[in-house]
Amino acid sequence: MASPAGKLLLFGATGDLAQRMLIPSLYGLHADGLLPEGLTITGTARSDHDDAGYREFARAALDEHLPTDRKDAAAIETFLTRLHYQPLDASTLEGFDELAEKLGDISGGLAIFLSTAPSLFGPTIKGLESAGLAGPNVRIGLEKPLGHDLPSSREINDIVAEVFPEDRTFRIDHYLGKETVQNIMALRFGNALFEPVWNAQAIEHVQITISETVGLEGRADYYDGSGALRDMVQNHVLQLLALIAMEPPAKIDGTSIRDEKVKVLRSLRPITSELAPQMTVTGQYGSGAVGGKPVGAYDEELGRPSDTETFVALKANIDNWRWQGVPFYLRTGKRLPERYSEIVIQFKPVPHSIFSERGGILQPNTLVIRLQPEEYVRLLVMAKEPGLDREGVRLREVPLDLSLTTAFAGARRRIAYERLLLDLIEGDPTLFVRRDEVEAQWGWIDQIRAGWKANNMTPKKYTSGSWGPSTSIALTERDGVTWYE
Ligand code: BG6
Repeated sequence: MASPAGKLLLFGATGDLAQRMLIPSLYGLHADGLLPEGLTITGTARSDHDDAGYREFARAALDEHLPTDRKDAAAIETFLTRLHYQPLDASTLEGFDELAEKLGDISGGLAIFLSTAPSLFGPTIKGLESAGLAGPNVRIGLEKPLGHDLPSSREINDIVAEVFPEDRTFRIDHYLGKETVQNIMALRFGNALFEPVWNAQAIEHVQITISETVGLEGRADYYDGSGALRDMVQNHVLQLLALIAMEPPAKIDGTSIRDEKVKVLRSLRPITSELAPQMTVTGQYGSGAVGGKPVGAYDEELGRPSDTETFVALKANIDNWRWQGVPFYLRTGKRLPERYSEIVIQFKPVPHSIFSERGGILQPNTLVIRLQPEEYVRLLVMAKEPGLDREGVRLREVPLDLSLTTAFAGARRRIAYERLLLDLIEGDPTLFVRRDEVEAQWGWIDQIRAGWKANNMTPKKYTSGSWGPSTSIALTERDGVTWYE
């Protein structure tokens, strides 16, 4: 593995992500003694701070976003001494030399994290190159959105690739930094139990749900130009699908795992224009109530009418030997009743029941992997109800529960960015998305969008606090499947 960088440079250092996630994550790593000794963190953005001003900015961010039990006054003080700041307008080349001067000697390695508007990626990369901040000991982390379709994603990737080769380019999908997402691999490949039944012979279908209660959250500019398909399915949902569906990698390293994921992504059956109306459902939230609180409609929040979807459900198929005939039902949306991310593996029924009808209907086994907010793995199995059963055995479905929160009660739940920032600093690419993966993802998504356009499909309104438009229920019911709730 590459050696850890001695310096970290954050673009977008005063933005929302920096305040909510990056600064608290870096602090978390610092407080746990995980950052390389002497690592300095230089923030840059347009805002006019000096070091002291940025430290105060970071202090306020920690104050607002750290849980109380993580606020260690002494650790905060030592953390703040790592921080530096250089104002910069990244849209012009001017200022990059001053930035390089501020950073000083980078012979110990530099990790850069770009959390800016994608329109700034090009100029920033050029600026970094011109100031000598792109040499072989520099690697770059890129936050989404990396384009809005395959051509624009290629364009960004090409611009980056002119200066940073793929092995020094770290594309972020923050879902890969989540502990429970990595746990999918532990579950599948750390146990002999699941792999023999992880295929079309034993599995009826798979469901992946990422449901959110939030609405636009002040991100109208970005979100309205994106929509649920591009904001969530193109990246997070497809990465979860790839981890569930991939073949066992030869090793737990960046090349082996990403080789397997990309094979799955390339095996996704195209949803052509003819198929789009029956395989996909889109919705946009109207007014309603979430968690007992009344909320307004999407276009009210936006202040104008819009055809952007805030909900999408679709049926995906993977054309390979392992998954032939196994539908993957995917859905995600905003202003749904609950916030959770979950994968449901529905097994096939037993081939023959030896129990009398009085014993109850045999339910096929279901494996539920809850990623957030709780973390658990639940296997639903049939068990005998206690009793003397004079008229035949009575069966009932019961959960075999593994709460990861309880099993690892002592362990702190980390922000996904802690893992990803540390991996970027240390140069481990395993949990970052490779160019071929991103492009396979975009290729599949673009075709769906082309289908929507060709069929003049617009999102159906759904009440905030409901599970999306009723057509989402019809999507699975047609196949005799019910969304697991
Ligand atoms: C982001 C999306 O990538 O993920 C947001 O842009 C979404 O729209 C967020 O809210 C969800 O992430 P998490 O970690 O809260 O599930």
